[in-house]
Amino acid sequence: MIRNTALALATLLASQTLLANNASPRIVGGKDADAGWKNLVALISKSAKEYAVNNEFDNPVFQAQFCGGTLLSEEWVLTAAHCVTGEQSSDIEIMVGSQTLNVAPSSDKLLDVQSIHIHPGYNSATDRNDIALIRLSELADPSLSSVSTAVLALPGTDQELEALLDYDDVMTALGWGVVTYDQLDEDPALEPVFTLDLQEVGLDYVSNSTCQGLYDSNANSETIYDSMLCANEPDPDAGDTFGEDSCQGDSGGPLFITAATLNDSPQAGITSFGYDCGDFNVPGVYSRVSKFLGWIEQTTNINGIALRNLTIGENALQNQGVGSFPLNIPVKNAGSNSATDFSLAIQHSWNLTLTPADSETGLSCTSPSSTLTECDYTGPAVAGNSTRELAFSANDISARSTGSEILNVTVTLDKYRDYHRLDDSGTVPVYFGMPTLNITAEPFCLNPGNSSVQMRVEATLANSSAQIYSEGTIVTGTLPEGLTLVGRASPSCTLEDDLFTCTVGQLNAGEEKTAIVAVTAAPDTPATLLEVEVDNDNGLAPSPNLSASVELDFSREDLPTCPAIPAPVSNLTGGGSSGGGGGSTSLSLLGLLALLGLRRKR
Ligand code: ARG
Repeated sequence: MIRNTALALATLLASQTLLANNASPRIVGGKDADAGWKNLVALISKSAKEYAVNNEFDNPVFQAQFCGGTLLSEEWVLTAAHCVTGEQSSDIEIMVGSQTLNVAPSSDKLLDVQSIHIHPGYNSATDRNDIALIRLSELADPSLSSVSTAVLALPGTDQELEALLDYDDVMTALGWGVVTYDQLDEDPALEPVFTLDLQEVGLDYVSNSTCQGLYDSNANSETIYDSMLCANEPDPDAGDTFGEDSCQGDSGGPLFITAATLNDSPQAGITSFGYDCGDFNVPGVYSRVSKFLGWIEQTTNINGIALRNLTIGENALQNQGVGSFPLNIPVKNAGSNSATDFSLAIQHSWNLTLTPADSETGLSCTSPSSTLTECDYTGPAVAGNSTRELAFSANDISARSTGSEILNVTVTLDKYRDYHRLDDSGTVPVYFGMPTLNITAEPFCLNPGNSSVQMRVEATLANSSAQIYSEGTIVTGTLPEGLTLVGRASPSCTLEDDLFTCTVGQLNAGEEKTAIVAVTAAPDTPATLLEVEVDNDNGLAPSPNLSASVELDFSREDLPTCPAIPAPVSNLTGGGSSGGGGGSTSLSLLGLLALLGLRRKR
């Protein structure tokens, strides 16, 4: 809640003096924030600041801070709804890029606000949907070393929290709120003490059901909705008289899932409410950010400046070839709204040049160096929750015929508009070479008859390549004179003049498929040779058996009778894998946290 200005000013003035001789100021029970946190912002009341200036109080910005928030992009700030209800855009300003509230009242770190967007479902009685967005009219500059944009937790990341219930301090709350309580004047009652410097405190995740139980037995049975998240510290340090918690003035600020790189720690919560501060029997309650990603995307969707979540997906079909070949880079829109206007940075070997395919409209690329291709995409929007394979044409000047390389690709929305940049980079494997195919053929059945005899030949194709699939694979040959192709038994085979073609299609690495050629001839036709040959769309590695010849001896008596129904045209045998692999990196929270050597709760 915004502080009652008069009371707050009195309190704050006093607290300032007190802070000076208070050994360790706290969020309650916290410590000075790590200098690495740069995505925190403070909400400042302009009128309170002016009042402090007019009355020549120290630190007018400190006097006027009333809530926290996080910077999401150059123009969007995330905060709590209860921080800004009743506020006009012109009433407030946002301090960006400073951990201390000790900035000049006219500091360029104080940015003006264009509009305030409170969640339409916000209910002040239940604190449900306690979330709001603030659009800046003076843009923040996330490229400054003092500024960073927050990463938001996704539903999946949030679920991983449940696996961290037994761990200590997996989350961090930050803010400029109450650090402790002290007897500030003659009044024996304890008064809140605020802080000039950003504080942080490590907290434990509490499941919603446990939290509900604690609220039922120790508070007023507030409903802990799914869109809320609880955190506390059941085991505060000995010196922390008032426990460890977020507190008044921290509202709107973040609760991060703390990982290795501070500014990449996903924000899971927005400080919302609690009961007193620091009582671990009544956890602090935060708005659960992952439940509001849709609303955030929607609300920021003004003039195409919406926040989005783009990642590098996995190729539906692997990239492969020799020399010049098509290459796809899958851009996955993991958010719910469509996205265009993004850029790609592709790192590759010096041998490879990448240019947009002719069919790809809206993609334009440059090569700042021989190992980097940068592209801007302004083509048709990529729908939410879908993957768009951007079509390139690759040229390998070394025409490698074996091996592979990994492209490192990063997708970026301009102005830091991606709310989950943790997975913006991914790998796209490229395999060099052509499949090694082997064909064998033999007759497998024969139907003698008075007017004509039918014989069927099974051609078996094996792809012995470790990685390269064969695309558009066909078996062809010339029909010897006097023979007719049996249409019904060979539906995958067509005849043009005397050239027959049987379609086998895609043949994955290690896979084997068969094609059946059925022919008829007059009963007295002499034995003849049928030549079969394999071909495909993506080239063939030299192999001893790209063709086979099979003797058709219509007088043979050792062959079984052909089945009456048309024989299957191709028969999927053998498993075989496409040999793909690679793909996008996904953040394993547990892995990250494990790296940090988390302590088990005692
Ligand atoms: N509602 C408070 C504010 O406006 C935040 C309270 C957080 N309380 C707690 N015990 N965690 O600043």
